[in-house]
Amino acid sequence: MTMKKITVVGAGHVGATTAQRIAEKELAREVVLVDILEGIPMGKGLDQTQSGPVEGFDSRVIGANDYGAAKGSEVFVVTAGIPRKPGMSRDDLVKTNADIVKSVSQEIKKVAPKSIIIMVSNPLDVMAWVAKEVTGFPRERVIGMAGILDTARFRAFLAEAIDVSVEDIQAMVLGGHGDSMVPLISYTTVSGIPVTQLIARDKLDAIVERTRKGGGEIVGYLKTGSAYYAPSSGAVQMVEAIVRDKKRLLPCAAWLEGEFGLSGLFVGVPCKLGAGGLEKVVEIELTKDEQAALEKSADAVKKTWEVVTL
Ligand code: APR
Repeated sequence: MTMKKITVVGAGHVGATTAQRIAEKELAREVVLVDILEGIPMGKGLDQTQSGPVEGFDSRVIGANDYGAAKGSEVFVVTAGIPRKPGMSRDDLVKTNADIVKSVSQEIKKVAPKSIIIMVSNPLDVMAWVAKEVTGFPRERVIGMAGILDTARFRAFLAEAIDVSVEDIQAMVLGGHGDSMVPLISYTTVSGIPVTQLIARDKLDAIVERTRKGGGEIVGYLKTGSAYYAPSSGAVQMVEAIVRDKKRLLPCAAWLEGEFGLSGLFVGVPCKLGAGGLEKVVEIELTKDEQAALEKSADAVKKTWEVVTL
């Protein structure tokens, strides 16, 4: 299964890597890469298309500064935004990115009113709301990417500590994308074996803590940017689940309507993704501590959200 057209908005680190991965997996014939920067999306798109003969894919990546080429796209991955500049408060950043995501969402609504939006721009739990609000799309068609990334970090750290394949670690990290995220130890297994049987509790706690600060650890090294390889992998896994109608169960940010006792906000929960986008929020049993942590995380999302007006 392949789609005709998928658009990635923002041709920066996350966006360009996402476009390349979508093309390499041939998830769409045409991958449109939109950015406001003159020349950059066209240059990157051409370069990526020219890797096709060597990598063996026939998808074409088309760069653009407007949304004409994106008309009729079935899926949009939104990565547009600006990084925090010196002297800029976190609230200023949220407001600026909300304005960017608002204008992007208006364009998406115009050229592809039936599309599915995957939000990557941060703070993504709030940006997903901006997109949902501006487009008026139902919750099935606006989903945020964070849980897969947080879970991937958790899985990578665990695999290293236990010395097993990353493929054999199953886990779910729920909650907002920030320090308050909620790694679910009770559902973390190594090929079905509860992880607590294979690693000491203190080591596990240290890994949970490192996972919470996973994004910051990378920013600490990169200094002028944030992570993009693993974030783009997360976004593309969601795209693939939708394009190939896989019905995958993945941790994603979804608009909640009473699930887990929460309503009227985006937060990371187990989601079934298929051709219809978010096909179901899967409610699972949580321990008392996990439920409390999820509620605390939801409060943190609301706090970031308060500064945004559309
Ligand atoms: N429309 C399209 N693109 C835009 C717009 C806009 N209105 N405003 C900014 N952009 C583009 C920028 O020109 C830039 O090329 O978004 C791109 C962002 O790229 P980077 O600065 O490299 O940032 P990146 O590392 O890709 O992160 C993008 O994803 O993971 C999140 O926190 C991250 O919010 C950030 C986003």
